[in-house]
Amino acid sequence: MRKGDGLARDTFVPPGFVWGAATASYQIEGAVHEDGRGESIWDRFAHTPGRVANADTGDIACDHYHRYRADIALMSQLGLDAYRFSVAWPRVVPTGAGPVNAAGLDFYDRLTDELRAAGIAPHITLYHWDLPQVLEDRGGWANRETADAFAAYADVVARRLGDRAAAIATLNEPWCSAHLGYRLGIHAPGRTDAAAAYASAHHLLMAHGLAVPAIRAAAPGTPIGIVLNLEPKRPASPHPLDLEAAGIAHDQYNRWFLDPVMGLGYPADGRRDAGWTGAEVRPRDMEVIAAPIDFVGINYYTSRTIRSPLLPPLHPIASPEVTALGWEVDPGGLTEILEFVASRTGSLPLYVTENGAAYAEDPLDPTRDPERTGYLQRHVAAALTAIEHGVPLRGYFAWSLIDNFEWAEGYRPRFGLIAVDFETQERRIRDSGRYWASLAAGPTRAR
Ligand code: FCB
Repeated sequence: MRKGDGLARDTFVPPGFVWGAATASYQIEGAVHEDGRGESIWDRFAHTPGRVANADTGDIACDHYHRYRADIALMSQLGLDAYRFSVAWPRVVPTGAGPVNAAGLDFYDRLTDELRAAGIAPHITLYHWDLPQVLEDRGGWANRETADAFAAYADVVARRLGDRAAAIATLNEPWCSAHLGYRLGIHAPGRTDAAAAYASAHHLLMAHGLAVPAIRAAAPGTPIGIVLNLEPKRPASPHPLDLEAAGIAHDQYNRWFLDPVMGLGYPADGRRDAGWTGAEVRPRDMEVIAAPIDFVGINYYTSRTIRSPLLPPLHPIASPEVTALGWEVDPGGLTEILEFVASRTGSLPLYVTENGAAYAEDPLDPTRDPERTGYLQRHVAAALTAIEHGVPLRGYFAWSLIDNFEWAEGYRPRFGLIAVDFETQERRIRDSGRYWASLAAGPTRAR
């Protein structure tokens, strides 16, 4: 089968393009008390009544910690070129800063080796939100020392896995860590303190910038990057106040992390509007944050319509197409975001590190998912349009490989290419998984 036969239209897919799927440690592993793993902020948060829908927790999740071999076999069935997973910091350094837990590191060593034996490239993320609780007790990301602890942990993982990793990303979606975690309180650690959120955002960037040279020294030649969640902020009307509000939202969401990483500093307008004094920024911090990297990962799900708070609310006549989580479906937004990032990153390789959708499961047959398949088809087409426009996109990871713990929403939203019955842990490949397999199949696959 020619690569790209699963595409809705005949489009060029660059040779070596990587088709993968993504997960994150707390969302799939379970085994939270095993082999010396320390507590994370998500263990604490999920066990706090009222924080997560249905009182769901990641205690068992997909039991991937025990079932990773079977899960790799499923990846092989899909013919994936690559698998993006995250390492749980509290498994590797249970107290956040201090002794390394060999048993925790061994798990990721086995996972990495088994993936490679199956011909699947391991794309590793070092931080996908499971901060060791001990560090949160000392102030979490609002405390600058957490950045130093992260760099030390990054060094440990890179030394052990770096030679076999296809790529290492420092952080997943630092906007969410800072703002959902410390300002809006929707995610762990559940704080609602804007000053702590802006301090956290800076310290997350410092964590990234300090980790990059540590990883580079420990694993020379392994591509290093960061993963950002980005989305177009569309003005609700042509009114100048809406245009201004959308511009500020764009600065605060799409530029706040990308620009400093690319050496462009914090966006001045967004910063002024946020009322952040920048008190945490010390001399040379911006140089540290701008450490040269090798790729940027983009997580894309939706776009937002922005209405100025100074104008009366607008009541749209037509309701937009949304997923089960109410996220607007906007494939063209992916083309836009990729082109926006490329305007900052030039020839730096880009990856779609997450894209996918939650839809209600078909009660008669959980493997039938025409909506998810359609969502992915339209977004893949949008990504290929960006490639045609010159964006150096090198790969695309579906979120998610399997149904999993969707943070504060618990297990109800289903994102998987593979359905999971959480009573029995039975896995079944969905039609969207078969669609993904058709993309990954073909003579140009990166093996
Ligand atoms: C992203 C997260 C990922 C998953 C998807 C749906 O923001 O990185 O873990 O929850 O959303």
